[in-house]
Amino acid sequence: MVLDILEKARMGDELSVEEIEALLSVSDETELKALFDCAYAVKEAHVGKVAYFRGLIECSNICMKDCYYCGIRKSNKNVERFLMDEEEIFREAVWAYEAEYGSVVIQSGERQDAAYVDMIERVVKRIHDATNGEIGITLSLGEQTEEVYRRWREAGATRYLLRIETTNPELYAKLHPKDHSMEERLECLQRLRRTGYQVGTGVMMGLPGQTMRDLANDILFLKAMDVDMVGMGPYIPHSDTPMGEEIPPYSDAQKTSALKLGLKMIAVTRIVLKDVNIAAATALQALEYTGREQGLKCGANVIMPNVTETDFRPKYQLYDNKPCTDENSSMCRGCLSGRITGIGETIGFNKKGDAPHYRKRVSAD
Ligand code: 5AD
Ligand code: FES
Repeated sequence: MVLDILEKARMGDELSVEEIEALLSVSDETELKALFDCAYAVKEAHVGKVAYFRGLIECSNICMKDCYYCGIRKSNKNVERFLMDEEEIFREAVWAYEAEYGSVVIQSGERQDAAYVDMIERVVKRIHDATNGEIGITLSLGEQTEEVYRRWREAGATRYLLRIETTNPELYAKLHPKDHSMEERLECLQRLRRTGYQVGTGVMMGLPGQTMRDLANDILFLKAMDVDMVGMGPYIPHSDTPMGEEIPPYSDAQKTSALKLGLKMIAVTRIVLKDVNIAAATALQALEYTGREQGLKCGANVIMPNVTETDFRPKYQLYDNKPCTDENSSMCRGCLSGRITGIGETIGFNKKGDAPHYRKRVSAD
């Protein structure tokens, strides 16, 4: 059955929601290996065995939102809030450029005030100018107006990541306070597309109450949205959050099964979407040390090494046991480079690494 579905996908046929659900439900070791091998073959054929580095700058943990799962939610009083100044963000981006990373991702909690919007616009322009537009600039700064997205785009950002988190409206409503709107999130994804970004979205998997059918629908959503980039990762409880308080820390068995689900989502997404960029989320490594390499072996082709100054790292704790919080940027570069070479892949140094999907999409317009 599973092998038939994989064969159907290999022939280029569209998979139904039931078939995607069947792939996500695989537990037999032989079938699992067939699934992962199939995804790796699709990856090799469509995007190559190259891992692209995106230097992740976590520039502020100040957040106006209050998502029930997230460690930096507004109501968490145990977080010491920080905001990097423009100079610091610029320095970290230049570090990534000199370390030959093809792009940087500037991420923070969500803020819409004018001072923050202006600061981001200035720093994006500075990074763009100082690197002659050679480094890709990705933003991951939450929901904004179309005007703000346009200003940041004009300053030099070309990619934007905004996870939908889940496409099941009932589940979305359970994960967020009432004033966090799924419609607004969807509208933001449209705004990003209209303003000319390469758009990335994704979900968390292993959320309480989430079913395999939900995850299968999430993958079909990514396909229907015609996204260029996918960023998704396992949900990991954070003890200072309303959801995390209810869940004791994961046992080893729970970590293994959360990792397996995360890898299956990557594999099936690769098989269904084919030529997009898919990130091996840092959260995979919170479950097992080699989680991110395993993500690459299952179809992911992007890794986001942290380039945030070490002092800030422990304060940007979205979930418990986040890896690399004691390390510095050079250590992460060396560590990940060795691990990727170790699985027989090359690193796309100095390459922006646009998804082939994006290039095809723009040349078809
Ligand atoms: N576990 C895993 N991922 C999380 N995120 C936030 N909180 C958690 C958590 N507890 C993810 C969300 C968000 C991204 C920046 O981090 O998906 O979009
Ligand atoms: Fe800020 Fe969730 S509370 S991203």
